[in-house]
Amino acid sequence: MGKTIIVTGGAGFIGANFVYLQLAEHPEDRIVCLDKLTYAGNLATLDEAMKNPNFRFVKADICDREAVDQLFAEEHPDIVVNFAAESHVDRSIENPGIFLQTNIIGTQVLMDACRKYGIERYHQVSTDEVYGDLPLDRPDLFFTEQTPLHTSSPYSSSKAAADLLVNAYNRTYGLPTTISRCSNNYGPYQFPEKLIPLMIANALADKPLPVYGEGLNVRDWLYVEDHCKAIDLIIRKGRVGEVYNIGGHNEMKNIDIVKIICEALDKPESLITHVTDRKGHDMRYAIDPTFIHNELGWLPETMFKDGIKKTIEWYLDNKAWWENIISGEYQNYFQKMYGERLAGAEEKA
Ligand code: NAD
Ligand code: DAU
Repeated sequence: MGKTIIVTGGAGFIGANFVYLQLAEHPEDRIVCLDKLTYAGNLATLDEAMKNPNFRFVKADICDREAVDQLFAEEHPDIVVNFAAESHVDRSIENPGIFLQTNIIGTQVLMDACRKYGIERYHQVSTDEVYGDLPLDRPDLFFTEQTPLHTSSPYSSSKAAADLLVNAYNRTYGLPTTISRCSNNYGPYQFPEKLIPLMIANALADKPLPVYGEGLNVRDWLYVEDHCKAIDLIIRKGRVGEVYNIGGHNEMKNIDIVKIICEALDKPESLITHVTDRKGHDMRYAIDPTFIHNELGWLPETMFKDGIKKTIEWYLDNKAWWENIISGEYQNYFQKMYGERLAGAEEKA
């Protein structure tokens, strides 16, 4: 018999990609998406899923105990995968409160419902940012599952707090949990506040490409579908109580990513504008994915050169999706985050 899987945050970037993977790969399962539809959630992303009789969408806040309990009472899920989160580091620096609320309290509310109604698996989608950062001059160092938590931003601190709570519910109440900690994702449906879609959108409009500091910070980029496949394996075959690091050994400097985007779109590198750095900016993230490879046989399938090509093509083919986003409240966001920085860069030049 098929399983019922609650996917929280399924109207966001990775959650939506996960919903589509599940519907395609596991047609026997029922997927119930619970999402508050914050600025980052977009119902249009789930248009195709809505046509599938095995899919249900429910607009609710994971912090709303009553709404969460009601959904559990109706659906009796076998598995919960928690993608719902405030996910943008820059926003967490401006306004930490909502990060603590959604990322920590929301996790607690979901796990309480899992305890109350019974569950086969609660999976927490976490991040490599909980490990802090690595120095640029030690390319031999990687994050393993044993690396101590050592966070930098309000975002990563809220995610680390949630991870600790998940481990506590596993040990104290015997809740069957797993946690995955993935590196930076890219691909279709990513909100254009994040590096890659922001640079694509700005480059297409011949606007400045705001690179923080020198752009030498390193991220370990993974195509979103590879992340979703890893989570699929963990929830079905992973060991309860474990943490799984997910990453593709694909470290790249920010400046190099932006140059690749310029070249692919045939835009001049003179659009690149170095602006004031992010506060507390993590230098380098690098995941050691040995454990998930050895335990579950997972390996990334998409090479960066292919993934970035597919991603850029997706943004070119789906302009309506992101133009609709950047024409609204996003304009105020962009002005607030980048207005002074870009003006400062212009003065210096
Ligand atoms: P996103 O910001 O694109 O989407 C978040 C989704 O959660 C949105 O649909 C939003 O409406 C929903 N949401 C927010 N608050 C909610 C609440 N209180 N109740 C219900 N729904 C709510 O995020 P993303 O980039 O898809 O990230 C998904 C998860 O993966 C997050 O937990 C994030 O920490 C983690 N993660 C992201 C990356 C990455 O590179 N983007 C890498 C590793 C881990
Ligand atoms: O590592 C996983 C994390 O990756 C996830 O947990 C987060 O949810 C996700 O947002 C992402 O965090 P980052 O802060 O690494 O991603 P972001 O796209 O915001 O930035 C990537 C790098 O690019 C970072 O070093 C900051 C830099 N940057 C970003 C933006 C938006 C710029 O130089 N200019 C920009 O305008």
